[in-house]
Amino acid sequence: MAPCLLLLACAGAGPAGAQTVSATASDQEIENQISSLLARMTLAEKLGQLQQLNGTWDGDIRPEQVQRARQGLLGSVLYVRGAKRTTELQRAAMNESRLKIPILFAFDVIHGYRTIFPVPLGEAASWDPSVVERADSVAAAEASAAGVRWTFAPMVDIARDPRWGRIVEGSGEDPFLGAAMAAAAVRGFQGTNYSSPGKIVACAKHWVAYGAAEGGRDYNTTEVSERTLREIYFPPFRAAVDAGVGTAMSAFNDLDGIPCTANSFTLTDVLRKEWHFDGMVVSDWNAVKELMAHGVAADGEEAAERALAAGVDMEMVSQFYNVYGEQLVKNGKIPLATIDQAVRRVLRIKYRLGLFEHPYADKGLEDATLLTATNLTAARKLATRTFVLLKNDRETLPLNRQLKSIAVIGPLADDAQSMIGPWNGDGRKEDAVSLLAGIRAKLPAAKINYARGCDVTGDSRAGFEQAVNAAEESDFTILAVGESADMSGEAHSRSSLDLPGQQLALIQAIHATGKPYAVVLMNGRPLSIDWVATNSPAILETWFAGTQGGNAIADTLFGDADPGGKLPVTFPRSVGQVPIYYNHKNTGRPPGGDSEDFSGYIDIPWTPLYPFGYGLSYTQFKLSNLQLSARHIRPDGSVTIGVAVENTGHRAGDEVVQLYLQDVAASVTRPVKELKGFERVSLRPGESRHVEFTLAPGDLGFYDQTMRFVVEPGTFKVMVGTSSEGGLESSLEVRQ
Ligand code: NOJ
Repeated sequence: MAPCLLLLACAGAGPAGAQTVSATASDQEIENQISSLLARMTLAEKLGQLQQLNGTWDGDIRPEQVQRARQGLLGSVLYVRGAKRTTELQRAAMNESRLKIPILFAFDVIHGYRTIFPVPLGEAASWDPSVVERADSVAAAEASAAGVRWTFAPMVDIARDPRWGRIVEGSGEDPFLGAAMAAAAVRGFQGTNYSSPGKIVACAKHWVAYGAAEGGRDYNTTEVSERTLREIYFPPFRAAVDAGVGTAMSAFNDLDGIPCTANSFTLTDVLRKEWHFDGMVVSDWNAVKELMAHGVAADGEEAAERALAAGVDMEMVSQFYNVYGEQLVKNGKIPLATIDQAVRRVLRIKYRLGLFEHPYADKGLEDATLLTATNLTAARKLATRTFVLLKNDRETLPLNRQLKSIAVIGPLADDAQSMIGPWNGDGRKEDAVSLLAGIRAKLPAAKINYARGCDVTGDSRAGFEQAVNAAEESDFTILAVGESADMSGEAHSRSSLDLPGQQLALIQAIHATGKPYAVVLMNGRPLSIDWVATNSPAILETWFAGTQGGNAIADTLFGDADPGGKLPVTFPRSVGQVPIYYNHKNTGRPPGGDSEDFSGYIDIPWTPLYPFGYGLSYTQFKLSNLQLSARHIRPDGSVTIGVAVENTGHRAGDEVVQLYLQDVAASVTRPVKELKGFERVSLRPGESRHVEFTLAPGDLGFYDQTMRFVVEPGTFKVMVGTSSEGGLESSLEVRQ
């Protein structure tokens, strides 16, 4: 974090209290303050700073936390939120503890605090980092007004397996897109200085490769080569660190035999030594304790020892650092310097946040900040940028406002709770606009025939008749199907990617009426919707669109907004194809090659249903004139790639121009293509734009057999398109 003005304010908090040093003080001044504080702390007080305890799920304080706060033995609390409650607990620390070190309040502010924005997978579908930055800056303002100064976000795990429920929390399958979104989220939460009003400190999680869980089963083992770690799983974390993220969270998973919460390679060698991260690392919930279940610690003492030694600074929920810390130091298993270093990192974040000077939230500010009209407007507008038009035969969409009657059908049509998705912060379903409410508001004069049809899960078709009647009586049908919000998220993996319950049968029943309809999908993961993709006239993917979701979807269905998003993750035809991702290797027998026996399936095509980067618009675009500033460059050189994009249709709309690269022959196998640039452009009918990307050595290189990052001479295929499939091609030579 860049040190700013030298404003050293030593307004002491009492004779024995911690001195306040302005968050705008230089790094050196902060370190000096920490040193003087450390010199006065007992070992118990130090260990107290390394403890994070959980409040109740609905944000309340637990009585023992007040006790610990008074004793100066509580570094951080998670879930306790709201100006009133945080102030109450903070007073115990600031007024009654010996050293008056403020408590750091943390919470999972993942896609909004009270005003909920689309789930992160949806935000990534915008292919517009400013969407993430804006949403997270609103989230930060609301959270900080409610006393929360630390969010456990962004979740920057790459996910190539949609069975894994937590795919909803990240930016999908690609490291380049993921890195762009990670940096944007850090900027949104933290701004340029997270001590500023309305800013909070972010946390890059889950370090690392958590998304590679075998079988898509949450918390499961991961086996990932170092090259894949460095090229696929690390980049979004690196981007977050480069953007100045203040904290990171060690993941639950076992990584090649060493759980991430005891992994000194990832926590110390890479994060600290290679990347020079000077922030704080918190364990995931009970992850220190879980080292015993992993079988790398025989007891709590050993679990604490391994996590501390590997580089986990703060322990979330389990209390082994506090129970065993003194004894670990006394018997020489953990040097005091290790404890001091962890405490230093915790205090560093507190100083950088300005928490010593401003420990309290303000109820008045909280009331004035949450769920404001401005925030709601932002939520509605940003949500429209996250939708992906998967199919639109014969311009089924957008709909005509003159429609006299509309059937709104499906188990998710009036589900405001699902609209705010999993990990919905302090969001409330009462604040949320369902699709049905959004359609009603959009067309107040039309006759709306609502029918639920069936539940999201279960076997009953009892509601089909009413749904079919509603469709038959209406000029058009909107069918809202998918998953309820509680079908993705933590510990919510699925073995099937099909539409659950009777929903496909419901679509088929409506289809059989022969009346026009469109499918609106709501879901936290890619779904295998082969039948729908083949037979339904129009499909709009809306993820879980947030508090203003229903209005945003209605805006899009009726053409007040253009669905210009693109898939941040591949949609498979069947769960059997998983893991399926665009930046795969070629194999020795690629499909379409000259071998009769190729890498595919005997029962279905090997290709995805919808590829990464795919998405339509209400208008059409054409790419032309792909030009490289040089045909050959040196390994340390760079090249500019330009292309023209034109809106050839009759409506304004957005296109995402995407640049991919393939290193055709290298010393190690390379992916068939890798995203290296993208830009979302808005164009009026007939308008065209020149889009330019620059490729530098960092984009051309890879990790060789000795794990060195190298740019090797040879040919690179350059591909520019509007999806990871198709587009214009050229080539580039790298020569010594
Ligand atoms: C466990 C989850 O893995 C993590 O993402 C979250 O931040 C913590 N619980 C706290 O809620």
